[in-house]
Amino acid sequence: MTFAIEPDEVLARLRSLRAERDAPTRGGRVLSYVYDPGVPELHHLVEEAALEVLHLNGLDPFVYGSLAVVERELGAMMKRLLHGDEGVVATCTSGGTESIILAVLAAREAHPGRRRIVAPTTRHPAFQKAAHLLGMTLEVVPVTPDGVVDVDAFVAALDDDVALAVVSAPSYPHGVVDPIEAVAAACAERGIDVHVDACFGGMVLPFLDDVPPWDLAVPGVTSISADLHKYGYGPKGASVLLQRGADRQRGMMFADADWPGYPVATSTLLGSRQAAGLVAAWAVLQSLGTEGFGVLQARCRRIADAIRSTVEGIEGLRVVGDPVGVALAIATDAASASPVDPLRLGDALVARGFLAQAQPGLRQHGQPDLPSTLHLTVTPALDQHLDALREALVACAEEVRGVPAATGEAAAPLAALEGVPIDSATAGAILAQVGAEDLGAERAELIAVIEATPPSVVHRLLVELLARELGD
Ligand SMILES: Cc1ncc(COP(=O)(O)O)c(C=O)c1O
Repeated sequence: MTFAIEPDEVLARLRSLRAERDAPTRGGRVLSYVYDPGVPELHHLVEEAALEVLHLNGLDPFVYGSLAVVERELGAMMKRLLHGDEGVVATCTSGGTESIILAVLAAREAHPGRRRIVAPTTRHPAFQKAAHLLGMTLEVVPVTPDGVVDVDAFVAALDDDVALAVVSAPSYPHGVVDPIEAVAAACAERGIDVHVDACFGGMVLPFLDDVPPWDLAVPGVTSISADLHKYGYGPKGASVLLQRGADRQRGMMFADADWPGYPVATSTLLGSRQAAGLVAAWAVLQSLGTEGFGVLQARCRRIADAIRSTVEGIEGLRVVGDPVGVALAIATDAASASPVDPLRLGDALVARGFLAQAQPGLRQHGQPDLPSTLHLTVTPALDQHLDALREALVACAEEVRGVPAATGEAAAPLAALEGVPIDSATAGAILAQVGAEDLGAERAELIAVIEATPPSVVHRLLVELLARELGD
């Protein structure tokens, strides 16, 4: 065989790209995106299982039947874990966003003519994406600056054109569990579907003993999404959607035999699909078992509690709300005479090898604004660096104490663009003008620019930035 480039050379280039451009995927120092159990035997299991099925096509479980068995077993395990009774059905998907789009589609199909979704401000953007794709509208209900949903405001938004109410267990930004029982009771009275977005915490909450009922044990909850590629410790490409009632699920499935090719029937959004994520997650679930998961998830809670007590001991900072133990958000303590800006703190932590996630503040209509925060997703692998992180938080807070929050002044000219259509060339010119590339280095500056820019302009510029990063 002759090659344009020898396979070994291609692989060598890939490895050098990874070394130059990627944050670590293991080790626990990246405090978002990746979920490292910190257990070498599980790393090995995941890699072997994924490799074993790398070339399967998940499109057709009648041809590649091992995946059908895996999906059935995954579904059964998740039903047991999340208190689904015999009326609950499971669908395996590629991730949280896909599970959410399918849950929204199912609610739309179950309620013909209803086109609204109600969700708290802290809902994941996947619900906005689903609404956009499926011709629905998302109405957002404010939360307090502690990330807590106002149940009265939520219930007041439940008109008879609402197909789906959304709550999170927990929300990603602050790690706080929404008032699921109260919302589900109000929706059950009105015949409205309720989706619990447990993409983030669905594999952790079952192992904590102090969380109020939040899963399918709660009457009125009609679906739950739980990602296995987060705290299920599988590689990306694995989530499960549980739904009450087979017909709710059948309503979102798809089939078409009206063409001269192979008859198509799919349970998810994709056609041909990768099996590796689901199979590797299935392997982890079986091998760890509930006892093993209990040990790892209790470790996350212990680490999160330790970080929380460190932050609470630092003058000028506070932890937002009452996080359940997978993640927490750090904000400025506005009541302090010596406040610390959390985004400056995040930038300072980078020099000490910790990558936390900067989150912009948010204007809420008629309700208090939400502050900018620093998000930390906690994983078992962080245990080995826990003391270092706690010391770094204290030291970095002193380092940046007194440094004012970034003002986002580069955004000043962008206010006039609200509502103005922006084409790609103009968006590119704006990005150059605000110095978007340089802003990336200092998260505090970038986030301040985002906060100071009208949302519609931010959305257009983010799209442009991404498109240019990925191509042209
Ligand atoms: C609460 C919640 N929902 C949905 C998602 C979307 O998941 P994915 O990135 O797998 O599509 C996330 C991801 O962080 C999440 O935290």
